[in-house]
Amino acid sequence: MSRVVVSGRIPADGLAALQEQHEVVSWDDASGMPRAELLRRVAGADAIVSLLTDQIDAEVLDSAGPQLKVVANVAVGFNNVDVDACKERSVVVTNTPDVLTDATADIALGLILMITRRLAEGERVIRNQEPWKWGMFYLLGSGLQGKTLGIVGLGGIGAATARRAKAFGMKIAYSSRSGPKPELADELDATLLGFDELVATSDVLSLHAPYSPATHHLIGAEQLAAMKDSAYLINTARGPMVDESALFKALKSGQIAGAGLDVFEEEPAVHPGLSELDNAVLLPHLGSATVETRTAMAMLAALNTNAVLAGQAPPNPVT
Ligand code: GLV
Repeated sequence: MSRVVVSGRIPADGLAALQEQHEVVSWDDASGMPRAELLRRVAGADAIVSLLTDQIDAEVLDSAGPQLKVVANVAVGFNNVDVDACKERSVVVTNTPDVLTDATADIALGLILMITRRLAEGERVIRNQEPWKWGMFYLLGSGLQGKTLGIVGLGGIGAATARRAKAFGMKIAYSSRSGPKPELADELDATLLGFDELVATSDVLSLHAPYSPATHHLIGAEQLAAMKDSAYLINTARGPMVDESALFKALKSGQIAGAGLDVFEEEPAVHPGLSELDNAVLLPHLGSATVETRTAMAMLAALNTNAVLAGQAPPNPVT
């Protein structure tokens, strides 16, 4: 029997799909094993089913040992896994694409509505029992209709976000490091722009590229200065794609109109100034957080693990 280490609590169906075939070492805390525990428990593992909060690096791989065959990350992003170190050790890395596309796009659209229509601000008024009354100019936001949504990275989640935004009457533009996406662009009537032009012309700029050293601080002081002062930044991808302290300064000084963030540079820490700003909407990394999606992610990670351990090609290798 193979030994599978699951680094944190995952939905029961996914765990059962692993337990049917393997000896499973699991961990009951859904936010993951402490590092020392992970290093200790992976010893002798054939597979590691990891969460995005685990750093799966050379130290973890070496603690596991040479029999390790697969790291199945329960996330679409896999920047927490040192893929090169895995390759050097012939360890396959898999992720969970597609199953979280709709859930994450829902959150992106949710953030767009929350920030442009000032929903969180309004909710705080009621929740804090502040006096209010209807007024012609009270808490006016900004409409989406006819505005341009700039999608940075027109992959599955970017396209799903664009589809939703089109239903709200937005025009779609996109930039793409991997070249034009003619089919999606056709479907969405989306205009391909260079990254700098997209940044400068979007009314709402939404990040959907994978995080890597190449996309670290993709949005920094320079890009924020280039954005329209009426524009909003949305990030449901990975926190370090945005220079959070530059963003704080841009929001505080009114250089851009607002930001909706589901991810942060140093999760779970958030730049302390951001939560004091009314023009920032902040969510605690909820992109894929639905019962259905998390179940599907766990099932897919189990499928990938089981395939590799059975000597088959997994459905979702990352390279
Ligand atoms: C969530 O952030 C994921 O990458 O799945």
